[in-house]
Amino acid sequence: PLVHGTELVQAARKGHYAIGAFNTNNLEWTRAILKGAQDLNVPVIIQTSMGAAKYMGGYELCQKLIESMVKAMDITVPVVIHLDHGNYEAAKEAIAAGYNSVMFDGHDLPFAENLEKAKEIVKLAHSKGISVECEVGSIGGEEDGVIGEGELASVEEVKTMAATGVDFLAAGIGNIHGQYPDNWKGLHFDRLQEIGNAVDVPLVLHGGSGIPREQVQKAITMGISKLNINTECQLAFAKATREYIEAGKDKQGKGYDPRKLLKPGTDAITDTFKEITGWIGTKSVK
Ligand code: G3H
Ligand code: ZN
Repeated sequence: PLVHGTELVQAARKGHYAIGAFNTNNLEWTRAILKGAQDLNVPVIIQTSMGAAKYMGGYELCQKLIESMVKAMDITVPVVIHLDHGNYEAAKEAIAAGYNSVMFDGHDLPFAENLEKAKEIVKLAHSKGISVECEVGSIGGEEDGVIGEGELASVEEVKTMAATGVDFLAAGIGNIHGQYPDNWKGLHFDRLQEIGNAVDVPLVLHGGSGIPREQVQKAITMGISKLNINTECQLAFAKATREYIEAGKDKQGKGYDPRKLLKPGTDAITDTFKEITGWIGTKSVK
């Protein structure tokens, strides 16, 4: 069934594990993620960035596609349809389109404005039973045109944002979207610990691809309850597709059936989902 994210992510914070939030791009991506969740019997958050939603044909289409696939595939585990890094307008559009959960990302606004808009989105979303994620500080790098400086979240601002009643909170702790540079210094555990001690709200780790596993697992002990993964699935999809073609498995370069060409990459996304979901300890559904 489709559900909002609040209880699932709260249970993760209390139980010291994380739920994977995987970005989707199309029907195959969505199917791969849903299949992984159903095979493992775990809850899943499927998210679209603003760019991916535009690419797929808009928020309504995304919502209906995912909802229809949940039905058609007989998915029995809880599924959250979430907007990833939405600006103020996008958050409202996704709410209107029936998403179960939205991120309002105001990292590029002065904090007072980020806070005011967050309050407004929380009020609107909660009146419809929709969960909300907000951001304090910023995530380094770029994801689908959303660019951040990697500014560390201030504990005071996190406390103020948490007081809005937001359901989960993304804090900048040295994490970066996309691939990590070789000279990356690692997550700022001191700041994460301070934040985790200061607020009960479940915390979100963005830029989940490429962080050493031990660091993610340590972060989970400090309050991280939602792990966002995008690049890892893209890399797996690209690698499997490339290998399939380069090995001549597409009738020695003559194959053109899209269902065959897309299968290795799609399977690789399911495998990636299962591997990550395993080591972040996502609890299966009873
Ligand atoms: O919002 C989505 C994530 O933060 C994904 O980051 O592409 O580094 O896995 P990633
Ligand atoms: Zn992100």
